[in-house]
Amino acid sequence: MHALFNFPSAAHNGEEILGFAFPILRQSYVTALTGLRKIALATKIFKTAIKELTFSQENCMAQAAFHFPRGFLWGAATASHQVEGNNTNNNWWAWEQQPGRILQGDKSGLACDWWGGRWREDFDRAAQDGHNAHRLSIEWSRIQPSPDRWDENALDRYLNMLRGLSERRLTPLVTLHHFSDPLWLTEMGGWENEKAPQYFAAYVERVVEALKDYVTLWVTINEPNIYVSLGYFLGLFPPGKSDLGAALQVALNLLKGHAAAYRAIHRLQPQARVGLAINYRSFVPARSWLPFSKMVTHLRSQLFNDAIPQACQTGVLRIPTRKVSLPEAKGTQDYLGLNYYTREYVTFSPFNPGGLFADTHFDPQAEKSPNGFLANEPQGMFEALKWCRQFELPVIITENGIEDAEDALRPRYLVQHLHQVWRAVNFNFPVKGYFHWTLVDNFEWERGWTQRFGLWELDVETQVRRKRKSADLYAEICRENGISSEIVARYTPELFEEIFPN
Ligand code: BGC
Repeated sequence: MHALFNFPSAAHNGEEILGFAFPILRQSYVTALTGLRKIALATKIFKTAIKELTFSQENCMAQAAFHFPRGFLWGAATASHQVEGNNTNNNWWAWEQQPGRILQGDKSGLACDWWGGRWREDFDRAAQDGHNAHRLSIEWSRIQPSPDRWDENALDRYLNMLRGLSERRLTPLVTLHHFSDPLWLTEMGGWENEKAPQYFAAYVERVVEALKDYVTLWVTINEPNIYVSLGYFLGLFPPGKSDLGAALQVALNLLKGHAAAYRAIHRLQPQARVGLAINYRSFVPARSWLPFSKMVTHLRSQLFNDAIPQACQTGVLRIPTRKVSLPEAKGTQDYLGLNYYTREYVTFSPFNPGGLFADTHFDPQAEKSPNGFLANEPQGMFEALKWCRQFELPVIITENGIEDAEDALRPRYLVQHLHQVWRAVNFNFPVKGYFHWTLVDNFEWERGWTQRFGLWELDVETQVRRKRKSADLYAEICRENGISSEIVARYTPELFEEIFPN
């Protein structure tokens, strides 16, 4: 069932025919029976054999493939606020209205117009592109527009979308919180409010009750580590704070919310598989021989990568100066959701206490995405999957992708990262699926529309979609359930030697 490195048996046909032709030839010459006719026949067979042998050898190269386990989930990942459009009742919409918050003053606006019904055509695209799964998120502010009101109509719309996935044979992975909060929660202090976990759990119950016939795979909260660090530390996400106390409070409440949601889902649906998606960033000391460099790298990784999933495992949140006991969080992950994008190098910076005494940079040698937002660091994917092993849980890669409007780097990024995933699978790491970020260009938070992560390009004004080459490449990988040398030769010939060394 596990990964195979499939080389077709070497040129069998040619060898067999040769084995058959040689004795006839020898015999013909030796006995000189009917002489010429037999020799002509044998020579013909001999030539066919040589042709067949050469063809098979070429084919042998062309068909080498790294296969994934049967049942592997292949899809794309999306999030409500980024694709639905007209999400006017959440904190992000409010944030977008404030000058200077979003690059170029961009707004999510109609986004990909899924709320207007264009999810249908995009699900068609996913299905036609060979995907067998799709990750989407539910917008809390639509389901519960005010603390005392539930919108059944909105629940029905999501139900329809899930039916749409099922009709197209796409397994749904549903996220219950992907960065956006209802405005009423924001007005009550957002996740700093100690009641936030309980509000969240009530919303989750409502959603799971309504959708459970169609979904068993759930992500409670997307990237709590990004939510906290960008919203309460770097100030790039709402509420734009830089306040360590608030950051800790929010991290604890997110964990409590996750734990409450985990239990609520299992109560309503015992067979559910529930996890959260963590944004793993590979941190490497820029000067590994400097103890301080190693120390600050470890600190950063511990805080950003380890703290939250380890709290879900052990029931203790460990941050540099404190350990906070959270017994309700213990054992609340059935699988690990991994979002991996890039790697950073860390240098010791004694005068940067706000940055945990460290500065980070990309490897100058690494290829960068057009806006310099990400570096192509496929090794980091393997490292991330190796890091996941400590949790002894199945892993789903819930996001991985790159901004690249011209689609010049994405094919390479995709193949190289999937190759690393395959390596991990081949070491028997329990990786169960891969969701590419994203299907169609979408609204990229504080970066607005300046970054294009889609397998499909979107013209935001006209809503016209245009397929990028990567959509076809990914489609072939999904259909093959693997990376074949033929696919690599066709889409990323420059990687052939690296992926299929001779
Ligand atoms: C988030 C996505 C986002 C992607 C690319 C991830 O951290 O979960 O919502 O669009 O990064 O920026």
